[in-house]
Amino acid sequence: MAEGIERVCEFLDEAGTYYLATAEGDQPRVRPFGTALLRNGRLYIQTGKVKAVSKQIAANPKVEICAYKDGKWLRIAGELAEDDDRAVKEAMLEKMPSLKGMYSPDDGNMQMLYFKNAEAVFSSFTAAPETVRF
Ligand SMILES: Cc1cc2nc3c(=O)[nH]c(=O)nc-3n(C[C@H](O)[C@H](O)[C@H](O)COP(=O)(O)O)c2cc1C
Repeated sequence: MAEGIERVCEFLDEAGTYYLATAEGDQPRVRPFGTALLRNGRLYIQTGKVKAVSKQIAANPKVEICAYKDGKWLRIAGELAEDDDRAVKEAMLEKMPSLKGMYSPDDGNMQMLYFKNAEAVFSSFTAAPETVRF
């Protein structure tokens, strides 16, 4: 059986799209995301520094993700921290090559963010919730 964080990343991959919520002052913001990468025991997502979402995370790193697949949903609440490691950016571009048309490791825009103090909860209408922390 895969470790908890691996199951979390697999679920995001299989769902394909998840929704990332940030806070802008007292206003919640949410948008579709699809990037997910498990590396060095961390769950990463990817964005562009020019985006409002990146600026919101810089001001307040607390976020929540929700994904849905086959009658199950996953919510991940936690904080995002930036990792500027070039190797992590390259691994993201290798996993999702379609990003290469928009980002490169040295463009000053590509941003990798990983979860800290994360609580991931798998839920369904038929089974008890299952919590994973990482
Ligand atoms: C299916 C789908 C997946 C997406 N995945 C990402 C992603 O992983 N990272 C990203 O920065 N933008 C992604 N986007 C684009 C963002 O949703 C879009 O840029 C959004 O406007 C960003 O939020 P903001 O306007 O609050 O900055 C995706 C869009 C779609 C439709």
